[in-house]
Amino acid sequence: MKIDFLVKNCSQLITLFGDSPRRGEDMKDLKIIKDGFIGSYGGKIVFIGNEDMLKDYEIDENAKIIDATGKVCMPGLVDSHTHLPFGGDRSEEFKMKLDGVPYMELQKRGMGIKSTVRATREIPLSELIKISQKRLDESVKGGATTIEAKSGYGLDLETEIKQLEAIKTLNELHPLDIIPTYLGGHDVPPDTGKEEYLEKLINEFIPEIKKRNLAKFFDAFIEDGVYNREETEKMLKAAKENGFELKLHADEFTNLGGAELAAEYGARSAEHLVRISKTGIEALSKSGTAAVILPGVYFFLREDKKPPVREMIERGVIVALGSDYNPGSSHINNMLFIMKLAVFLEGFSIEEAITSATINAAYAIGMDKEVGSLVPGKKMDLIIFDTDSYINIFYEPSKNYLKYVIKEGEIILDGCELIY
Ligand code: NIG
Ligand code: FE
Repeated sequence: MKIDFLVKNCSQLITLFGDSPRRGEDMKDLKIIKDGFIGSYGGKIVFIGNEDMLKDYEIDENAKIIDATGKVCMPGLVDSHTHLPFGGDRSEEFKMKLDGVPYMELQKRGMGIKSTVRATREIPLSELIKISQKRLDESVKGGATTIEAKSGYGLDLETEIKQLEAIKTLNELHPLDIIPTYLGGHDVPPDTGKEEYLEKLINEFIPEIKKRNLAKFFDAFIEDGVYNREETEKMLKAAKENGFELKLHADEFTNLGGAELAAEYGARSAEHLVRISKTGIEALSKSGTAAVILPGVYFFLREDKKPPVREMIERGVIVALGSDYNPGSSHINNMLFIMKLAVFLEGFSIEEAITSATINAAYAIGMDKEVGSLVPGKKMDLIIFDTDSYINIFYEPSKNYLKYVIKEGEIILDGCELIY
């Protein structure tokens, strides 16, 4: 078998071997190979192991070879929750928040999500693509090789399609893999009554987005002042019937039984979960619905309530991480930073943070058979750190140890330079 890209002598090759999400104690087992070698051909991993096993492979004479002596290698990070394509800027509102106005109060005053809706409706598609492309570059600098991206800042058919078209084009233009989500239930539009909107969403928008094949997931926000349980259920039901997989922004500021609802509908994930109840944890632990934890929001909104991460992990919930990159509640799209927040602020162990940002995050966006661990047949998506122990990445959190980002067997970041 042939190899056209080889990374040799990794001090620690963190493989997370296997292609299923991890629960409980298994989240701590990173399956590390010492002095590890990994090779790919045509962007797919063909070999993983030690030097003596390499003799059965033929290395192309033009193969790219990286000597990773003294370095840590791990799967490219997966950002399982972003609101990538949005227009406008909310720095004014950010300042107000720091001066004491609560986030949900800003929403009530017509700022918050609604202000980004106005700006996203106005921005031309070409401009939306341009600014989002720069954001993707930032994601790469934070170690991500796959991300999820949501619409939800249009709340009319035209703008939702524009956002999803932007994601589609970016998927072609940019080396990152982007998994699209139609977040039709993000908020109630500023110019349409709730009942009228739900009627259109269910009978018109969901079928149209499906027909155009623009999104893999449907997502909604179950929250006081946004959508209640009954309304959310109607949306999830319609989306499921139209063939979408489901996600849900759940139990963020209020507990409306979001986690339970997500599990009941067989959603791929429930996200936020700051106020998940014991029954919610129980429901997730018995289901295949992943809990996507978003430490960027806790940090950025200076929240005082944390999600019960330890309990979720101990009860065997599939826990994943995401940035929730958006202009209002987490203006952060660097997954390395998010992993550090998870460890320092939200009670993850280092190993659990790595698992949650790789194989479990891949599962949370339905990509666990393709990315998220280093296994023959999966994509050669790899990040390489200039240190010989993964502990150091966290022990010295302000230091940027990231040296290479490799996407499907191509180096896309070398040092600080993007080279795709
Ligand atoms: O995931 N929770 C709801 N929606 C976004 C925030 C969006 C915004 O403030 O613009 C979130 O945090
Ligand atoms: Fe979100």
